[in-house]
Amino acid sequence: MNNLTFPILHQLSDGQFHSGETLAKQFGVTRATVWNAVQYAQDLGVTVFSVRGRGYKLANTLTLLDKRRVLQAIGSERDWFHFDVLDEVVSTNTYLMKAAANGAPHVSCVAAHIQTAGRGRRGRTWVSHLGASLTFSLLWRFDCGAAALSGLSLAIGVALIRALRELGMQSPQLKWPNDVLVNNKKLAGILIDLQGDMDGPSAAVIGVGINVDLPEHVLHSIDQAAIDIRHTSMHHIDQSDLLGTVLKHFASVLRHFEASGFVGLRDEWLRYHAYHQATVRMVMPDGRDVEGTVTGVAEDGILLVQTAFGLQRFSAGEISLRGLL
Ligand code: ATP
Ligand code: BTN
Repeated sequence: MNNLTFPILHQLSDGQFHSGETLAKQFGVTRATVWNAVQYAQDLGVTVFSVRGRGYKLANTLTLLDKRRVLQAIGSERDWFHFDVLDEVVSTNTYLMKAAANGAPHVSCVAAHIQTAGRGRRGRTWVSHLGASLTFSLLWRFDCGAAALSGLSLAIGVALIRALRELGMQSPQLKWPNDVLVNNKKLAGILIDLQGDMDGPSAAVIGVGINVDLPEHVLHSIDQAAIDIRHTSMHHIDQSDLLGTVLKHFASVLRHFEASGFVGLRDEWLRYHAYHQATVRMVMPDGRDVEGTVTGVAEDGILLVQTAFGLQRFSAGEISLRGLL
């Protein structure tokens, strides 16, 4: 972490040359301190040209999140949000879980320009890249207990699909319980951490990672088929507009979920499920698996699969769904 790196990146994001001397004066530091901050930007994967006599310039466009633009895209619901952008954080979910324990208000939201240890489910890693990924978390406090939140991650999937479709993406799909797919490749993931009692009140930290414009080597470093927005029919979207639109749909779906749970969203979820009526393999944590046909999903988000042993019910958490041709 280097406290000067992001202030300098904000300056360089205009795509022009900035001399080391001007930057040093502007921030009241030495030119060597500026150089160190620029080195750290390179460590984060940003290529910065350094030309004698002219200064520093970004090799590629870098668009950082713009808080005002995010709030504008949220629209009339924006006053509900306690929204902040962090430059660098270990994980927005970890950060917001701590903040929630310390009393952070309902509808707190943090987005990060870069996570140093982004998490997927079960301790897996979420890969992201500065300026090329959207990573954020939203805290929602519920009167009900954590036990009533089992369909929440599916409800959030519906909100993500609505946002992507509003922004013009064709055919985004869901994979039970919590992935967004395009062309059978993973575009986004949802990680929900819960706090509080099983019978209430409780708090959910809803974390989302969306691939926007990953460098090819980063995309290929992911150990399953992955895709970013640039390779979809949407091609390009300003990240602040994307985040604001997603948060607007989150607020609406979460209000619905609070009032009546997942049941009213179930048909919509099934319409977008990539594996509805498909033959799948359900893999248990110990590696055992069972094949069957997905026939539906219950009101609490449990997946219903018709197998040789009858209709089986799978709850999210430890089970992975794998498609078969
Ligand atoms: P499931 O176990 O339900 O099948 P999954 O295999 O997608 O889900 P998750 O825990 O939901 O696993 O997500 C973490 C996984 O996502 C990582 O193990 C990795 O395979 C993949 N992954 C990590 N970063 C990215 C990314 N930026 N884009 C797409 N996929 C990613
Ligand atoms: C998954 O598919 O397993 C879920 C991935 C969730 C990634 C997001 S990025 C923002 C938030 N912070 C994290 O550490 N993880 C989630």
